[in-house]
Amino acid sequence: EAADEGFAILEKQEIVPNMHFFKVDAPQVAKFAQPGQFVILMARETSERSPFTLVDWNAEEGWISLVIEEVGRSSRELASLQSGGRIAHVSGPLGMPMAIEKKGTVLLGGGCYGIGAIYPLARALRQAGNRVICTIEASSSYLLYQQAELQQVCDELIVATKDGSAGVRGGVQEVLSLVAAREPIHQFIAIGCTFMMRMVTELSRTLNIPTLVALNPIMVDGTGMCGACRVSIDKTTRFACIDGPIFDGHGVDWDELASRRSAYARQEVEALSQQVD
Ligand code: FES
Repeated sequence: EAADEGFAILEKQEIVPNMHFFKVDAPQVAKFAQPGQFVILMARETSERSPFTLVDWNAEEGWISLVIEEVGRSSRELASLQSGGRIAHVSGPLGMPMAIEKKGTVLLGGGCYGIGAIYPLARALRQAGNRVICTIEASSSYLLYQQAELQQVCDELIVATKDGSAGVRGGVQEVLSLVAAREPIHQFIAIGCTFMMRMVTELSRTLNIPTLVALNPIMVDGTGMCGACRVSIDKTTRFACIDGPIFDGHGVDWDELASRRSAYARQEVEALSQQVD
């Protein structure tokens, strides 16, 4: 294999434990990327394919950036790569871009990898003239990241921690309650783990706030062919890779999503243990 095959890693850093920032040379992706889209990465030729939301990109300079959470074998392989190394495959941009409209006040909530993923949406929504409030959650203050970047693209940044070590005690859910009690929210967008998105979506339904979520089912081909990413939205089957990943949160069948994720997670654990054997 030629030394220049693959996509060069321009920058790589573990920003908080288990969360890795990557800046990757990928001019074709950078040229066409839009807010809400993702890429599928393969660390090596033989790696599993895994999807990651684009955090930032620069068409002129030809790079994209991503935040990769270490949660399984494929993300661990990626996390082991360093600046100056290469990622075997970067496919994208994939998925439907988010429709960027002027709604009024938009609240974006991010947890885990979603703290990175809300950044391009916040920037685009603010450029479109919205009042943009961002909230990010973590279990403790040392797990928060991207604050300075978010501050630049939001009218207000509200931090929340489960242990109360910074900002509001609690998470995106608690901040949604606080902000809704104080002012009208015309659009709420949540990105993070399935459990968080489910909880905040239930609350926003009771508050009557239109809600978008970026779903994170397992993906394989990312082109609508394999069916791995199917989800039910308003009782209709959709493919997160081509119809999403952003959907109306109030239409999501969360039980189905959780069970499909755990069924695949078990297979991944099996694959991992075979490798260890
Ligand atoms: Fe295969 Fe979406 S990832 S259909």
